[in-house]
Amino acid sequence: MHGEKPKGHPGGHPGAGHGHGAFGKGGGPAVTDKSGGRKWLPKLIAWELTRSCNLDCIHCRAAARFGKYPNELTTEENMKFLEDVASFSSPIMIMTGGEPMLRDDIWDLAKHGTKLGLRMVMSPCGFLVTEETARKMIDSGIQRVSFSIDGATEESHDNFRRVRGAFASVMTAIENVKKVGLDFQVNTTVTKHNLADLPKILDLVISLGAKAHHPFLLVPTGRGADLKDQEIAPEDYEKALTWFYNMREKVPIQFKPTCAPHYYRIFRQQESAKGISVTPETHGLDAMSKGCMGGQSFAFVSNTGKVQICGFLETECGDIRKESFVKIWDTSKVFQQMRAWDDYNGRCGYCEFRKVCGGCRARAFAFTKDYMDEEPFCTYQPSEAAKKARDAKKAANE
Ligand SMILES: C[S@@+](CC[C@H](N)C(=O)[O-])C[C@H]1O[C@@H](n2cnc3c(N)ncnc32)[C@H](O)[C@@H]1O
Ligand code: SF4
Ligand code: SF4
Repeated sequence: MHGEKPKGHPGGHPGAGHGHGAFGKGGGPAVTDKSGGRKWLPKLIAWELTRSCNLDCIHCRAAARFGKYPNELTTEENMKFLEDVASFSSPIMIMTGGEPMLRDDIWDLAKHGTKLGLRMVMSPCGFLVTEETARKMIDSGIQRVSFSIDGATEESHDNFRRVRGAFASVMTAIENVKKVGLDFQVNTTVTKHNLADLPKILDLVISLGAKAHHPFLLVPTGRGADLKDQEIAPEDYEKALTWFYNMREKVPIQFKPTCAPHYYRIFRQQESAKGISVTPETHGLDAMSKGCMGGQSFAFVSNTGKVQICGFLETECGDIRKESFVKIWDTSKVFQQMRAWDDYNGRCGYCEFRKVCGGCRARAFAFTKDYMDEEPFCTYQPSEAAKKARDAKKAANE
């Protein structure tokens, strides 16, 4: 599928992230331990600063459109939220949308997060990233931006984003962040329309000088729910994820499937077939990353303050206007359920790989309306022995 590339970083990627379009290394510097002994801490928070957007993408999980959204969090509420997050953790804060740059207070919010020691990153759409705004990103402490490229050509990308000039705007935005020396990564949502073009998209991303390329698997939610005909068959996802695995050491940048939890099962199966066990010593952060991190080390806060395990599972876990984020993080029932993977339904509940994968809770929900159900895009059949072992473990804990 793809020509040979120079070897990347054998034995792990120094800049490997924590999933979900992860933006490089972990959170801010841990100067003092403020975790209060918590086992579960956020490492990455997607912070939807506005749902308003100048694109109209066919797959958009937020079904975002341009215009004023009522009731969005105010500057003060967002500042307070940052303080709450920083009081017990140091995650990467993804300033996202919609188009986060449509907010007037964007630089003040970024600066405030930086001052609090949080690692601030941003997911703009492209049109608003001029050389001047790229400098403002640097000045406010933003450490990396992500851009989406969903097609290898202008036509294919613009058809997906449904705005003429979208592809050109991303290319200009990339030139501008490069001029000011700001790191960027590229995200690509994988559907039938671009599956065959992935090698070309990867080549493009490398030639542009990105630090990382993160292909996202489609989650059929928001406008994405109408894309049933664009969903790739589970068997083809298996092939694509195996190709990602094979490519990861051939490319000079981090190449990491996102919201494709069973990639981590395939990763281990492939390494094990070569007689290699996956440990932090041999594989760095790749060994420590988990497939789905929603509610475990990842959270999403909506434009109106609703907390979710991620942006793709629209199940409210709390509201930062009513209680603190830290309280929601510690006590939300949904978050607790995400951390108890022995209780997941179907194959994901007893699979030998559940600790490193977990299946996509949002895709399960999109298919059956139960986020505890098994990942619909996974073809793996765990063993009966694994089922018995899980049942015995649960019985012993009762
Ligand atoms: C937080 S969004 C970034 C927001 C930004 N406005 C954009 O679209 O580039 C991160 C990635 O999720 C992707 N995404 C949005 N809806 C999706 C869906 N339903 N399934 C899978 N990926 C999706 C976006 O294309 C983007 O690459
Ligand atoms: S069955 Fe579930 S936990 Fe196991 S590999 Fe598939 S998606 Fe992951
Ligand atoms: S539920 Fe799915 S979309 Fe959400 S974080 Fe987990 S893998 Fe990603």
